[in-house]
Amino acid sequence: MNIIKLNAIDSTNSYLKELTVENTVQNYTVVVAEQQTAGRGQMGTIWESEHGKNLTFSILTRVNNLKIVDQFYLSMAISLGVLQALKVVTQAKLSVKWPNDILAENDKLSGILIENVLSGNNIKHSFVGIGLNVNQQEFSKNLLNVTSLKNISGIHFDREELLLKIVNSIKFYISYLERNDFNELKKMYLAFLYKIETPAMFEDKEGVVFLGKILTVSEDGKLVIELENGTTRKFNLKEIKFASR
Ligand code: BTN
Repeated sequence: MNIIKLNAIDSTNSYLKELTVENTVQNYTVVVAEQQTAGRGQMGTIWESEHGKNLTFSILTRVNNLKIVDQFYLSMAISLGVLQALKVVTQAKLSVKWPNDILAENDKLSGILIENVLSGNNIKHSFVGIGLNVNQQEFSKNLLNVTSLKNISGIHFDREELLLKIVNSIKFYISYLERNDFNELKKMYLAFLYKIETPAMFEDKEGVVFLGKILTVSEDGKLVIELENGTTRKFNLKEIKFASR
């Protein structure tokens, strides 16, 4: 495995993106940093992580013939890869909060930011950025509902070993994409989906809070929710969140 270790960088996703301008970068090249000065999260958020305690890394993935319309299957494969690797080392009950946060109970362990480079109808390659709270035990007061592997298991992890386990697990789930076994990936993803089939309060983009139940995820990655009146609605990332408890 080609691993590039950096002490400090703005963002491992940005670094990998610059590196990949040259087409010679190997599939599954990993960039890992002890510290990011401008770690990026989904929807323009910032990823905070204590220096030297956690894992912040990005993987270059190239999947042959992966269509843009199938991009959510890559997200499923990555989430499952991270979740399964963490499940094995912690023995904890973990879930994926749509689209791809890894949770222990109600608390976030890991966040994933996938940036795709497109070519025609296909995804040429992707920068898969993963932030994982490993040995950090205290979090800033503004960060609600976050935890770490150490907090949930009491184990102090060797981060390098863990990184290899996660990348290998991601490779395993990407092999489903390579075999076009999309149905199996979706089945596994739904089996770990946070609050699936459970009544929960949601908030839409207008700030309206409503009761609903997650039924599934559509082919294009939208969250499908059954409303109280029995109708279903689909939401994309910017349109819905769980209402704060
Ligand atoms: C999220 O939950 O909002 C996604 C967080 C993704 C953070 C990781 S850390 C490594 C990689 N580099 C970045 O700048 N972001 C991702």
